[in-house]
Amino acid sequence: MRKKLIAGNWKMNKTTSEAEILAGELMKVAGSVDYCDVVICPPFTSLDCVVGVVKDSKISVGAQDLHWEDQGAYTGKISGDMIKNLGASHVIIGHSEQRTYFHETNETVNLKTKKALAHGLIPIVCIGETLKERDAGQTEEVVHEQLEGAYKDFTKDEVLKCIVAYEPVWAIGTGKVATPEQAQDVHAYIRKILTNLFDKDLAQEQRILYGGSMKPDNAKGLLEKPDIDGGLIGGASLKAESFMGIIEATR
Ligand code: PGA
Repeated sequence: MRKKLIAGNWKMNKTTSEAEILAGELMKVAGSVDYCDVVICPPFTSLDCVVGVVKDSKISVGAQDLHWEDQGAYTGKISGDMIKNLGASHVIIGHSEQRTYFHETNETVNLKTKKALAHGLIPIVCIGETLKERDAGQTEEVVHEQLEGAYKDFTKDEVLKCIVAYEPVWAIGTGKVATPEQAQDVHAYIRKILTNLFDKDLAQEQRILYGGSMKPDNAKGLLEKPDIDGGLIGGASLKAESFMGIIEATR
């Protein structure tokens, strides 16, 4: 039985003092939730502070990216070791905004995911098609290529430590949510890919989140689908009330 997981991707929002306030509010409403896993991913600058605020709770903390090297002359980059050392447990990898604006490729997603595991971090690996690709009937092809690329040369044990987030790019930050049926179809297809690449047991065990304009009022329909194991939430994770609304929809 896959436990549901709701992860908040704060993106480039919240100064450290604002992050401290939001994390404090979340502590009050979601700090002892045990019917689903809760992860919040603030910007790097607030990781330390947020880890401190939620430390005695059920809420876990993740980063939004990492570099695939351990250290060195990589101005502006953050290593897995640095993230782990702050007490974070998860890291988002391959988000479509990284792919679109910052040259993320399936190869760098693969390197980053390997490195995250090496540092004991749980990768949340994002995949998903653009509107152009969907309209051209290429959704399955794109998702297949991205997933195969992310897990290239991975052992089953490594894959089992990861989480996949299916995020159709056309639904991210647009208010245009995928219908539960559209999302379910792709989630089921992702399990088919995993069965082909690895095996059926692994495919059944892998947690697959949906991301893209998930809100309290549409979360239930999505989360009820058999292959949707949670959500990666952008906009609605920036307010304690809406994030909690989605957490409650997992019940
Ligand atoms: P959204 O973002 O919920 O604002 O659409 C989701 C994401 O990008 O992870």
